[in-house]
Amino acid sequence: MSKVSALWNLHFQLLFLALVLLCSLDGVFSRSTSSFVRSGFSSVDIPLDNKVFAVPKGYNAPQQVHITQGDYDGKAVIISWVTSEEPGSSKVFYGDIKGTYDKSAEGKTTNYTYYKYRSGYIHHCVVDGLEYEKKYYYKIGTGDSSREFWFQTPPKIGPDVPYIFGIIGDLGQTYNSLSTFKHYLQSGAQSVLYLGDLSYADRYEHMDGERWDSWGRLVERSAAYQPWIWSTGNHEIEYAPHLGEFSTFKQYLHRYTTPYMASKSSSPLWYAIRRGPAHIIVLSSYSPFVKYTPQWLWLRDELKQVDREKTPWLIITMHVPLYNSNSAHYMEGESMRAVFESWFVQYKVDLVFAGHVHAYERSYRISNINYNITSGSRYPVPDKSAPVYLTVGDGGNQEGMAGSYLDPQPDYSAFREASYGHSTLELKNRTHAFYRWNRNDDGEQTPVDHVVFHNQYWANNRRRRRLRKHHASLDNMRYIQTY
Ligand SMILES: [Fe+2]
Repeated sequence: MSKVSALWNLHFQLLFLALVLLCSLDGVFSRSTSSFVRSGFSSVDIPLDNKVFAVPKGYNAPQQVHITQGDYDGKAVIISWVTSEEPGSSKVFYGDIKGTYDKSAEGKTTNYTYYKYRSGYIHHCVVDGLEYEKKYYYKIGTGDSSREFWFQTPPKIGPDVPYIFGIIGDLGQTYNSLSTFKHYLQSGAQSVLYLGDLSYADRYEHMDGERWDSWGRLVERSAAYQPWIWSTGNHEIEYAPHLGEFSTFKQYLHRYTTPYMASKSSSPLWYAIRRGPAHIIVLSSYSPFVKYTPQWLWLRDELKQVDREKTPWLIITMHVPLYNSNSAHYMEGESMRAVFESWFVQYKVDLVFAGHVHAYERSYRISNINYNITSGSRYPVPDKSAPVYLTVGDGGNQEGMAGSYLDPQPDYSAFREASYGHSTLELKNRTHAFYRWNRNDDGEQTPVDHVVFHNQYWANNRRRRRLRKHHASLDNMRYIQTY
């Protein structure tokens, strides 16, 4: 080779190396704050006489029907509803042929008062022993007032069974909430990971349960047909000593149940389920979580139960984000971050979803586990073992949009936009998931943030990849970023 060609070869190699380095630093230089300006509805609750809150016809007809997973692995559901006039029956009739209800399960009824509000009769019924991947029809109520619904059980727990979750937070009951909800109904998702702050009934002077009732009727058209996996936010606390209400989460806990005992939790506010290829851990931002508390002890044990060979996708939901660069609620999650983040890194959690901040944000894979009060290490750094943190608190409630972000955008923040919307997470197989955040855009479902997530346990491990038997074709992927 001549000297000239060797020199050109060296130049070419240096240029190539520089390009590779630039590409690998993409995460540092490509963070963005969307300039999209939302022209949304005003942030007021929809009037109670609107048809979206309509009470079903018939004396004592079941209303506010909703279901959630009823066990650890998805072979049971909890069906809940409210009757307004009298307790009536708590029985669920069900079967896998429409109109033929050859099985039944007996539920329980509860009710409560909150200041001057008296609730209806709230029914919860566990239907178990179901088969995987089957459509079940169910009937509740009696006589002419009975109502019929259906749901689909998930596939058997397994690493390569596809499953689609929807993600909604801080929904409330305004016209913006309705826009988010209508868009979600078109999403094709099979189950909702709900990120806390449901009805915002506590925004009313006497925290009137009537707005809990209307919210239950609003979401019924989804929640009666597919499980919503609940987590709680600050608007569920409803601690109101000035009204003589000293307990916390009183209205929420009467109305929304979770299968917490199936994961050996001592509280309905934090628990875990496995669904299809996912292990979902729900945490409570407003319950004690520091070292030695019940939630801390439970999470320590639950993380040891996670089997990535069976459920490769490890997802955590909570209300208060641990990483958030919005001015609203800035650093409120710092205390939980300090307690739990090292576990999230140790166990290679894939995704952490939170709400609370009424906007959207996605982080890079970063951690701040080396923070040390003495040494001075205090900045989050890129960390391949860390989860991506997603804030989806943009359901559209009456408190309005959180439109002010820290400027400049911190390095840990990949994308952020102050608009209303929801997310979908399509788990394709053990290595890849398609994620997108959908801006409502006042009538148009506009996907804005697309990401392909690589699984933290499988996708980044060549040995495991070589061993795996199944390969999914990803030829059609046209997504803009991968992690
Ligand atoms: Fe909140």
